[in-house]
Formats: sequence, structure tokens, C-alpha cells
Amino acid sequence: MRKVITYGTFDLLHYGHVNLLQRARALGDYLIVALSTDEFNWNMKKKKCYFSYDERKRLLEAIRYVDLVIPEESWEQKVQDVREFRVDTFTIGDDWEGKFDFLKDYCEVVYLTRTPEISTTQIKTDLGK
Ligand code: CTP
Repeated sequence: MRKVITYGTFDLLHYGHVNLLQRARALGDYLIVALSTDEFNWNMKKKKCYFSYDERKRLLEAIRYVDLVIPEESWEQKVQDVREFRVDTFTIGDDWEGKFDFLKDYCEVVYLTRTPEISTTQIKTDLGK
């Protein structure tokens, strides 16, 4: 069984996220999503989520492409996750192109093309109008 892992915030889940998750799952047989905790988002990414970690986790678990959701609590945990879960492929949207190439020592690294024109930030901006 090929295991795939991806990382992200996935706040206000939208079709760009679903496209990413569908293609991530298609890279293997089992998809793990490391979901940024509220603390990690706030302290490290300077992002305040609309939905709490538990709400975002429930939404992801309801998606057929997602097999397991684990917390993302630090930038440094990726190598440990890849080892612990015996991950074959790390994948993420190409807004992160090149940023995680150091993981190539541990697994395959695939950057997926982002779905154009949709983002959580854009939704928040539009709703704020
Ligand atoms: N993603 C994507 N296409 C989009 C938006 C997101 O493929 N239109 C991917 C990202 O590249 C990432 C994952 O979905 O791999 C989670 O992205 P996240 O940062 O949580 O979502 P965004 O909508 O980009 O949120 P923000 O605007 O807050 O950055």
C-alpha cells in the first residue's frame, strides 16, 4: 500500500481543497492529512481560522479521499511523520514549490498545481465586502 501525506490549514473548505485532496489520494492508496492546529496557525502562520481545528478535522474526515487526519503542530515534524507513518509520497500545492525538497531524502515529493482563483483568503475578503 502506498501512503501519501499532505499538510495544510483547510479552513472554509472549498473546491480547490477537494481538487488537491482528490489528486493527492490518486498518488497512492492511503491519504494522511496533517492539519494545522489553531495554535500553529496563529503562532507560526499568523492565520486566524474561521473554523476550529475540531470542525476542520470533521469536514476533512467526511471527504472520501481522506483516510486519516493528524495534527500539524510544527514546521519540523515532517521527517518524523514520514518515518512514523511509513509515507511513500509527500505532496502539497505548488504555492510551496521547492520549499520541501529536503524531504526527497526520505520519500517522493510532488507539488500539485493549485486550482486557480479560489483561496480561503479570497473567500474571507469577498465576504468582508
Ligand atoms: N490549494 C489548491 N488550490 C487552491 C487552494 C489551495 O490546490 N485554490 C491547496 C494548497 O496548495 C495546499 C492545500 O490546498 O496544498 C491547503 O491549502 P490552504 O493554505 O489551507 O488553503 P488556501 O485556500 O490556499 O488558504 P489561504 O488563502 O489561507 O492560504
